[in-house]
Amino acid sequence: MLVHRPRRLRRTEKLRLLVRENRVTPNDLVYPVFVTHEKSARREITSMPGCFHVGVDRIGEVAEQVAAAGLPALLLFGIPAAKDELGSGAYDEQGVVQQAVRAIKAARSDLLVITDVCLCEYTSHGHCGQLKGDTVANDPTVSLLSRVALSHARAGADMVAPSDMMDGRVAAIRSALDREGFEDVVILSYAAKYASAFYGPFREAAGSAPAFGDRRSYQMDPANLREAMREIQLDLDEGADIVMVKPGLAYLDVVREARRRFDAPLAVYNVSGEYSMVKAAAAQGWVDERGIVLELLTAFKRAGADLILTYHALDAARWLREG
Ligand code: PBG
Repeated sequence: MLVHRPRRLRRTEKLRLLVRENRVTPNDLVYPVFVTHEKSARREITSMPGCFHVGVDRIGEVAEQVAAAGLPALLLFGIPAAKDELGSGAYDEQGVVQQAVRAIKAARSDLLVITDVCLCEYTSHGHCGQLKGDTVANDPTVSLLSRVALSHARAGADMVAPSDMMDGRVAAIRSALDREGFEDVVILSYAAKYASAFYGPFREAAGSAPAFGDRRSYQMDPANLREAMREIQLDLDEGADIVMVKPGLAYLDVVREARRRFDAPLAVYNVSGEYSMVKAAAAQGWVDERGIVLELLTAFKRAGADLILTYHALDAARWLREG
C-alpha cells in the first residue's frame, strides 16, 4: 500500500525553502512612528515598549534607521502641542506631521512617507471628527479630512491613509488632491477598520482616547464580515489605491476574504494591542519574541496581505536579514 509521506519535503532546510508558499521580506513592511513637537525627544511609550515618541527635530534619524533596515516606508502619527474642537492642528501647514514629512523628505527623499489622516489625536474630545451634539457629523468631517490630506500632500507625503471611517472620505480626498495637482499621491484607505479593544495602547501613545462614548458609530462591528467587503468595495469605487483591514490577528478571515474577492493591493495593520501583548509575554520570557513575530507576519501573508503595517518592522527586518 502506498504511504503518503508529506514529511519527505520537510527533511532539510533547503527542501523546506524550495517548497515554501509564503515569504515575508522587509519590502512588505511599513513602520509606524509617533512624532511630537517636544525638542530632541526620544521617549519610550510605556504601553508599547520599544516604540518612541520622537521629536520632529530628530525624525531624520528615524528615517535613516528605517532606510538602513531596508524598509520602503514609514507611517506618521502626530502628537500636536494643543487640541481644539475641530482638530485644527491636523491641517495646520506648520503642524507636527507636516514638519516631519518635510524633514524626512529632506533627509531621505527615496523613503516613502505615509501619513495617517484622522482628527482624533487633534480634537479636544478625542473623536475622529467634528461633533454635532454627541455624534460625529459625517460630511463636515469629510471636508476637514480633505484639508488634512491636502496639507500632508503639500508637505510632500507620498501616500495618505485616512483612518477615520467616515462615509465618502476617499472620494472627497481624491478629488481634493487631484484639484490641487497631487494626482500621484496614493490613497491607502483604512477600508475595513473595526471598533477594537486592540487599539488600547495606541490611544495611550497618541493621547486619543475619546473623552466620552466610543467609536462604534463609525468604526465597524467586530461581528461583521460581509459589511467589510462592502466597505472595501466602496473605497475602491471611490478611488482608493490600496485597501486595508485593521486590526490583523483577530481578523485574518477578513483579510482572506478580501484577498479572494478583490485584486487591489491589500494591507493589514498589526495594531498596538497585538504588538504590546507580544512584547509583554516576551518580557516575561513566556514566548520567544523573534519566533512569534516572524510567525505572525507570515500568517498575514498567508491570509493574503501584500503589505503589513507593524511596530515590529525594524526588528523583523533585522531578523529577516540575519535569516
Ligand atoms: C486614528 C487611529 C487609530 C489607530 C490608527 N489610527 C486609533 C483609533 O482608531 O482609535 C490604531 C493604531 C493601533 O492601535 O496601532 N483613528
